[in-house]
Amino acid sequence: MGKIYDSITELVGKTPLVRLHRYEEAEGVGGHILGKFEYFNPSGSVKDRAALNMILEAEYEGKLKPGMTIVDYTSGNTGIGTATFANAKGYHYVAVIQPGVSVERSQILRALGAELLQVTDVPGFAEMLKTGLSLAGLEDVMGKFAESKGWFYINQCSNPANSRAHIIGTGPEIWDDTNGKVDYVVQLVGTGGTLSGLSAYLRTKNPNVKIIGAQPARQSLKDPAFPDRNTIDGVLKFDGVPEDKVPALFSQFNTYYDECFDVVAEDAYETGRKLVSKEGFFVGQSAGAALWVATQIARRPEAAGKNIVVILADNAFKYLSTNMYATV
Ligand SMILES: Cc1ncc(COP(=O)(O)O)c(C=O)c1O
Repeated sequence: MGKIYDSITELVGKTPLVRLHRYEEAEGVGGHILGKFEYFNPSGSVKDRAALNMILEAEYEGKLKPGMTIVDYTSGNTGIGTATFANAKGYHYVAVIQPGVSVERSQILRALGAELLQVTDVPGFAEMLKTGLSLAGLEDVMGKFAESKGWFYINQCSNPANSRAHIIGTGPEIWDDTNGKVDYVVQLVGTGGTLSGLSAYLRTKNPNVKIIGAQPARQSLKDPAFPDRNTIDGVLKFDGVPEDKVPALFSQFNTYYDECFDVVAEDAYETGRKLVSKEGFFVGQSAGAALWVATQIARRPEAAGKNIVVILADNAFKYLSTNMYATV
């Protein structure tokens, strides 16, 4: 049956879940790897879900009024989603971008009409970065800045509408598409919105679902002292870090994870290249990392025949300037 949509906002979610048969065979694993291809969202990433839901809930609560400006601190994907839906709904969007964000990401944001600010444009931000970025510090600095301008600070890091996007969307989609047969879910963590929402939803359906988090290994984190190192963009370390660096959404949603893997960027990149060569799916860095983790689980004897759902956050186009797909 045909259907005519009325807005780009209606295209968020219902992303495909695909069994990666040829990849599994090449890796010789017994677990079933099911890729949740989040780049099918209209602006190209899992963060479309959070961006749209944060806007919808703020409109509903009366915090976001017609014609207002939305501001956030973002590494890119949430910004790209927010800029997209801001256009579709008549808002102006200002993104304060993280230092060192890939060239493609800032170009996309600008092309979408977003206004880009550097952290040095926000009073107190650069000083805070010197002592280390903390969530409380970020919220304080960004909150005051937004207030002084009369803007709506969407605050993806502790806005519960971020996690709820996955409680109403991603979680039920996974449950329905697997007919309730989901044994593991794997995701790299940024704000923690996806993992907290999935954990909250799926555990109510089946308390035995294993929630697997993953993070860049220490040597694959961005570090101004090593500008040329390979990194995994858009995600953070959340396990084994001080309390104030653990995503706030984890405590808001009583999130716990069964395991956390550290992923080295080179493994993530190689896994992404294997996926495109075996299956044709051309994914980004965190997706490559998540698939690497799913592959380690799929190799375990106890995972034979089990369904391992892996969240593949975005596609490769934003990473062409990095070493992931660099061709010699
Ligand atoms: C490429 C990529 N992967 C994974 C994530 C993590 O998603 P979440 O913020 O829901 O933890 C992000 C989010 O910023 C991202 O941009």
